[in-house]
Amino acid sequence: MDAGERLKHSFGATRVDEEERRRLIRETFAGVAPRYDLMNDLMSTGIHRIWKAALVRHGRPNPEDIVLDLGGGTGDIAFALAASAAHVLVADPSPQMMGQGQAREGQMREGQMRQPAPGITWVAAEAEALPFTDGSIDLVVISFAIRNATNIERALGEIARVLKPGGRFHCLEFSTPQPWLAPFYGMWSRTVIPVLGAVVSGERRAYRYLIESIRQFPDQAEFAGLIAASGMTDVSWRNLSFGIAALHSARKPWNSHSPPPPTSFAPSSSKRKSRSARMRTCEAPTSPARQFRFRSLVP
Ligand SMILES: C[S@@+](CC[C@H](N)C(=O)[O-])C[C@H]1O[C@@H](n2cnc3c(N)ncnc32)[C@H](O)[C@@H]1O
Repeated sequence: MDAGERLKHSFGATRVDEEERRRLIRETFAGVAPRYDLMNDLMSTGIHRIWKAALVRHGRPNPEDIVLDLGGGTGDIAFALAASAAHVLVADPSPQMMGQGQAREGQMREGQMRQPAPGITWVAAEAEALPFTDGSIDLVVISFAIRNATNIERALGEIARVLKPGGRFHCLEFSTPQPWLAPFYGMWSRTVIPVLGAVVSGERRAYRYLIESIRQFPDQAEFAGLIAASGMTDVSWRNLSFGIAALHSARKPWNSHSPPPPTSFAPSSSKRKSRSARMRTCEAPTSPARQFRFRSLVP
């Protein structure tokens, strides 16, 4: 069975149908949202911040860029990119996860944090059905979220569709570590993470899903193949922490009216609802310039 088919029907190690998988994932993130950021720090001993910094460095937008942080959750990446982009959108199906980010942005607006509020647009949407017009986004980033897409091929197709020709895609995700590391990593995953999940967030099942879904996810080369099959080009990746995570990058071809056949890829170094329904799910952009810009993204 190929990776796309395998992911569609698995909630971690349990076989489920597609609808059930989507429901369980929504339930999982609703449950972990209040403690999500704290758990990330504990589980990864803070290393997720280094990985995310690598994504932000790679993805650095141009000042006129419209950026989409897909599966953006509590907004870590969106906040980091907002300083250098014209506008950042977060799209995520979990109102609870985005609620945490919106609360953080509220604190910025009230001056309770050192960072000024960037005015992010929060959109309730799944990667498989993005409510944006074709060729409207300069940069799509996705961090630790593509694994949750039930139809990964459709999600990658949607990313390719909404990118402008020449637009960039960067994906940070857990991957397959080097063989010498696998036993230690396996032990940490099997023992420490579920216990932390149970004690800190009270959500043992959610953290078992995390570990099992990482195991199900395609390795670096297979995932690069899926990106290439979506019609994106210049696909490459670099391993982070010996392959525990990987940062895949690609670009939409300049002359892409129809997806070309899969192109070459290699490691870079060692490395639709109705329009009104969609609009209702979005927080109103703050400035008139942003309202204009955002409306132009919605078909
Ligand atoms: C592990 S969190 C990552 C959040 C954030 N990007 C980060 O790096 O901290 C995964 C996110 O994927 C979202 N998600 C679940 N299913 C999705 C889908 N089909 N499309 C896009 N995002 C999805 C969840 O709601 C959740 O916010």
